[in-house]
Parts: sequence; C-alpha cells; structure tokens
Amino acid sequence: MKSILEVPEKYRFSQVLEQNTYLINGKLKYWPGHRTNVYSPIYLENSQGKLAPTLLGTIPSLTEKEALEALDSAYNAYDKGRGEWPTMKVEERILCIENFTKLMLETRDEVVTFLMWEIGKPYNESCDEFDRTIEYINDTISTLKEMDQKHSEIKNHSGILAQVRRAPLGVVLCLSPYNYPLNETFCLLIPALIMGNTTIFKPAKHGILLLSPLLEAFQKSFPKGVVNIIYGSGRILATPILKSGKVDVLALIGNSKSANILQEHHPKKNRLRLVLGLEAKNPGIVLPDCDLDLAVKECVLGSLAFNGQRCTALKILFVHEDIVAEFNQKFVEEVQKLKGGLPWEENVKITPLPEPNKPIYIQELIDDAKSKGAKILNKNGGETTLSFVNPVVLYPVNKTMKVYEEEQFGPVVPILSFKNIQEPLDYISESNYGQQVSLFSNNPNSLAPLIDSLVNQVCRVNINTKCQRGPDVLPFVGRKDSAVSTLSVYDALRTFSIRTLVAFRSNASNDKILTDLLESNASNFLRKK
Ligand code: G3H
Repeated sequence: MKSILEVPEKYRFSQVLEQNTYLINGKLKYWPGHRTNVYSPIYLENSQGKLAPTLLGTIPSLTEKEALEALDSAYNAYDKGRGEWPTMKVEERILCIENFTKLMLETRDEVVTFLMWEIGKPYNESCDEFDRTIEYINDTISTLKEMDQKHSEIKNHSGILAQVRRAPLGVVLCLSPYNYPLNETFCLLIPALIMGNTTIFKPAKHGILLLSPLLEAFQKSFPKGVVNIIYGSGRILATPILKSGKVDVLALIGNSKSANILQEHHPKKNRLRLVLGLEAKNPGIVLPDCDLDLAVKECVLGSLAFNGQRCTALKILFVHEDIVAEFNQKFVEEVQKLKGGLPWEENVKITPLPEPNKPIYIQELIDDAKSKGAKILNKNGGETTLSFVNPVVLYPVNKTMKVYEEEQFGPVVPILSFKNIQEPLDYISESNYGQQVSLFSNNPNSLAPLIDSLVNQVCRVNINTKCQRGPDVLPFVGRKDSAVSTLSVYDALRTFSIRTLVAFRSNASNDKILTDLLESNASNFLRKK
C-alpha cells in the first residue's frame, strides 16, 4: 500500500496527532520541550517515494521534573488519606467513574482507529478491546456496590462491635503494556481509582496516542490530582517517582526486568504493594486421547491470535509422539489458512508487528532452532516483509534452543513430541513461569491426575481450551515469575485496597455513639449502607 487514500475512509486516521499536553493536577499542561515521533508498524510511501513506517503523531518527552510534579499532584490529592478522593463516599466515586465512562464511549471510533494504526490490532479485535473495557468498568461498578453493601453489616464479636470495609492504599503508579494498551491500563486504573487511590499513569512504548482522546474525559471526571498522565521514557520518569518513597503501589503489566529494577528503587520496600503481570510461557499439552481437530483449532488460536502477542498465548506445544505427525499436518494446514494483511481487512489474523526489532529477534530464534535440528514446517514460515512476519511452526524443538525457554511474544510456534507425560510436567516445574496451561484430552482418567498436580504449578488449567485471561470475572494471576497479586473484576478491587475496621467495645455509651454516627450519616466510612 502506498498512500493513505488506499485505506478505506472509515479506517483512516484524520491527521498527524500532535499530543502536546499531559495531565497533572487537573490541568492539561502544554509541553514546549522535545517531543518523540510515534510511528505505525503500517508502511506508507513517504515524501521521497519510499515505503516507511507511517508517522502518526508526537508525544511529549517529559523529564524528571514533570515526573516529580505528577507525583506531588497525586501525593497531595491523597493527602495521607485525608484528601477529598480517599475520604469520599463510595457512591460519589462511582458517579465520577460513570461520568468518565459516558465520555469514554464518545471516543470509541477514534480509539479503535489508533489501536489499529499504533499496534496493528485487527479491527474486530480493536473493537472488542474497547467494548470489553467498557464492560469491565460497568462490572467493576456493580461488584463494588455489592461488596460495599455486604460490608455495611456491623457485627458483635465477643463484645466488640465492628464494621469492616475496604480502604485505599495511597498513590498508585500504573505502567501498562503495548499489546492491550487500553484494556490492561483500565484493568489497573479503574479499580485503583474507584477504591480511592490517586494515580500516576505512564503509557507503554506503543499504543500511546489512543489515550489522547481520553485525556479530557479524565480531566473533566475526577477531582484534580486524582489522575495524572505523563509521557516519556519509563527509566527517566518512573525511577525518580519510585525513589521518592511516596508511591504505595507499583501496578505494572510488562517485563520483569523493569519491575525488578523499579521496586529496588523504593527506599521503604515494605510499604510498596506490587501488582505485577509479567512474562509467561504457557504450554499446551496434547494427549493421544484428545479430539485432534479441536486441539488443533484451540492451539492455533491460542498461539497465534494477535500474532502471539498475548501474555496468555500458548508459547510451546507438547504433543504425544503417537499423534504428533497428524497433529503437525493439521496444525500447519490451519496456520496456512490464517489471512495476513492490514488490520482493517476482512478476516485478517496476522498483522504488522509494532516492535521494530521483533522481526530480527524472531529470525534469531528461527536460526538458533534450525542450527540445533528444528525444521520450519509451514510454507513461507518466518518470512518477513517490513514489519510483517509470517507465522513460523518449528519442529522438533529441544531444550538447547532459545525458543524452548524464552518468551517469544510473536508469531512463533515451537512444537515438541513427548513419550512420557513426565516430560511436559518437568518442563512446567522447571520453568521460571507459572501462569496457565492447556490440556487436550477427552479422557477424565488422564486429566484428573494432571489437574491435581498442575493446579499447584500454574494458576489456571484450561481443558480442551486455549489459555486466556477472560472472562474478566475469573481470577487472573500467576505463580513464580509470572505475576504478583490477583486481578479480575472482584479481585482487583481487593488488590487495590486494604481491609480497615472501626471497632467499639459494646456498652451503653458506645452503643449510643455508634447509633448516633449511623443515624447522622456524618461519616463516609462508618455508615449504614
Ligand atoms: O497479554 C495478556 C492479556 O491479559 C491476555 O488477555 O487472554 O484475554 O487475550 P487475553
């Protein structure tokens, strides 16, 4: 494709977006300094007539000074728990979130367009990401209402009357990933906010401009200082924020290296709560008694949806030696059917990759695997055209290869055959990761012992189903180096809060004080409903 005019009008971005403001202390502040270009992984002809990544816009390259201003803004808005936001009635906070959601809905088309252009996500999946996020917010609101109602009870325990509710933790620093730049950001920000915390949010390296249409919605919907949004390098911005010791929660979905470096900067480690979603290498284990067609379908979807760029993707497949030949043949047939193209093309599945160095990394994985005995099973497997990489199926993979251990986060499917089930089980127990696994079998007797041992190794055992995060009401968590803390509509509300109680020794005088407090509705925390 040479020119934007070849893109159907509905999917074009209107103009290069100069994002020259950032949100601090309730103000959209103009940034006069250096700005960084944001490019699309989709190539168009440039002014010299050469195909080049399309310039989508610019974002501020903020410095330590603005990072510390954002921190002060969030810190002062929290005001050691005395601020307007943390002491507000839950129902009032809910109103702010509802108001934000209304404004957010108006931005759907623009956000979806940027999701396609910034990270190459297919149109339907971009729409799903937006709609799923709205559903997540609505479910969070109804779950909090139920939770709050349940916690309104005052119980007498051995003469002590107590009301136990959940209170905020303080200042939350949110760092989100590029593959779900809207959904995963909001799965952190919304529960953090609704529980009364104040926030500083820095978007990932890719998937940034899609947040621009939402800046005003944030500004209009929340008291000043409650949401602060800054742009620039994670190292430059997040390091001084953590070093200050004023952050109470580090909420990061991304890379463990960054998470480890950042948490080390906090001077008072016991005060820092970690909410981390990190790497994973989820295996699919295909047993000889499975429904092979179903296993193939789920493994293709699990390993290659959004080009394999999901933390939950199936990143290695163990197939029993009795069926591996048939599995590989059917798997390759299905992979060949995946349509490659641009995000707005109908039924497109394989799209350009947003990380400029990813094609090189994938080639390194392929070369390494080939030099150690693996073959590419599919036609044109791994072939690269600009930012587009054709999926590659590698077999037989073994322990010595990089792709056996490293999280490829791209369209690479390593397959191994096994004789004894102990082989994939040992892989899982020796792995640094412990997010999920998929088991394919129709035999309850084969599945039962595997379920019983694997639930203690990973945090979700999927039966005849690909690994995935959703539906969002289910707990999303991992063991070992894959995660810290649990997310889900319900769990995230707990993760971003702490149980706090008000207690009285029951006697005539205290009982009266308690009744008066409840009747007067004077406290926002201690109340009837
Ligand atoms: O990248 C990790 C995402 O949370 C995966 O979500 O399983 O719904 O695609 P998903």
